[in-house]
Amino acid sequence: MSSPNEHAEVAVLGGGPAGYVAAICAAQRGARVVLVEKDRLGGTCLNVGCIPTKTLTTATELLLRAKRGSEFGLSIPQAAADLPAMMAYKQATVNRLVNGVAQLLKARRVTLVRGEARLIKPDTLSVEDDQGKRQEISAGRIILAPGSVAAAPQIEGIGLPGVMTSTGALEIETVPRRLTIIGGGVIGLEFACIYEALGSKVTVLEMTPSILPGAADEPIAKRLQILLRRRGMEIRTGAVVRRIEKAGDTLHVFVDGADGETAVECERVLVATGRWPNTERMGFAELGLRMNGRAIAVDERLATNLPNVWAVGDAIGGWMLAHKAMVDGRVAAENSTNGQRQADYRSVPNVIFTRPEVAGVGLTEAQARAAGTEVKVAQFPFSSNPRARILGESDGLVRLICEAGSGRILGVHLLGPHVTDLIAEGALAVQMGATADDLAWTTHAHPTLPEAMLEAALDFRDAAIHFRSQ
Ligand code: NAI
Repeated sequence: MSSPNEHAEVAVLGGGPAGYVAAICAAQRGARVVLVEKDRLGGTCLNVGCIPTKTLTTATELLLRAKRGSEFGLSIPQAAADLPAMMAYKQATVNRLVNGVAQLLKARRVTLVRGEARLIKPDTLSVEDDQGKRQEISAGRIILAPGSVAAAPQIEGIGLPGVMTSTGALEIETVPRRLTIIGGGVIGLEFACIYEALGSKVTVLEMTPSILPGAADEPIAKRLQILLRRRGMEIRTGAVVRRIEKAGDTLHVFVDGADGETAVECERVLVATGRWPNTERMGFAELGLRMNGRAIAVDERLATNLPNVWAVGDAIGGWMLAHKAMVDGRVAAENSTNGQRQADYRSVPNVIFTRPEVAGVGLTEAQARAAGTEVKVAQFPFSSNPRARILGESDGLVRLICEAGSGRILGVHLLGPHVTDLIAEGALAVQMGATADDLAWTTHAHPTLPEAMLEAALDFRDAAIHFRSQ
């Protein structure tokens, strides 16, 4: 069966952060927009990524703070997780935000078409809904935003019961006594901290020599590794997982490491070994859409090789981050409505909601040195910040990667309380080409965490007030 065809000035394939933002922006700019989504609006981020994980992070942090109540002079006798209630809070938060996106699209008069889209011509999408009904959407301009999927690594036994991806790890009914996480990247470590707080004995197996490879400034990643181990989390680096077996209720995860093959025993395994662009079965290859590996190849304006077709978000590879995807969405929306906008990724922050949190923007120290820049690193520890002391969370530090002579801030790397919020100042500094002196002469309120940024900026001239390195 076939229903009437739609025509749009801009059609967007995919309703995640890249796609729905592109749709709203194109509509703001006066275009008639159709958005096609096969599942729930909000994509991975809202439904099974950023938002549900951060609700669990927040809930488990509250639990841990409640357990530390006596430190703050509070008596909280039986702080404990109520898992079904926690999951209900998570789902209610997700639902509220997903409905919010639907309202925003409606308010901008974006037509939402439910179903699975294929690109059948550079100006036409074919959409099939879950009843098998097909319709065609012709559009002057098309923005592809199909997102990403969990990578399927070559590990034998990955389909065994008890082995889960991050989506499964958001739906647990009981807390496993022992959890093994394959991959010490962003997803692996965020879940490690959630499950640790719920009471699991967590083992992280990471194949590279350090956790968070490529996702954090090295000294920050090393410091986090020390803090996690000190709390009792087992972190094995240089550990490649090739095979999982099940014996009774126990899973055996076999690891190739420096000592040959060893096995880790547990009740549940989380596989967090990366994500791939979702670019198959949508007709891309048939139309000759140029690819870069699994990712859609784009130019600096996010245009593909097909006329009037742009691509955005996780599907174009690079940083798979919701906030970067939203920037892409705005760029493609402008360019598909007569704009001339280049994607500018200089100030894309990386934020990792571990305990303590990690955040970074711009160049790492290693990247700045590799680029041949003479670098001076200015630092300040949160242990010397009064607000961090009040919060009882004084582990961590600020690292400003500065150009030696001018003090221009090339990168900002943080470990500590609320640094996923604090990084906004670093992003602005990098984007504006600010210097350490600019930051040092910007008055920061007292007593607040951002004062640690000011003090690190002062350290560029060895002039921190509240810290003296020996
Ligand atoms: P990732 O690339 O950050 O980490 C995967 C890790 O698994 C790597 O460190 C890799 O060396 C390791 N690995 C791969 N195969 C292995 C094996 N067989 N044995 C042991 N270790 C192995 O990918 P992840 O954590 O799955 O995240 C996917 C994407 O989602 C990333 O791009 C990430 O940036 C994004 N994300 C962002 C978040 C945030 O911004 N807070 C939160 C969660 C995900």
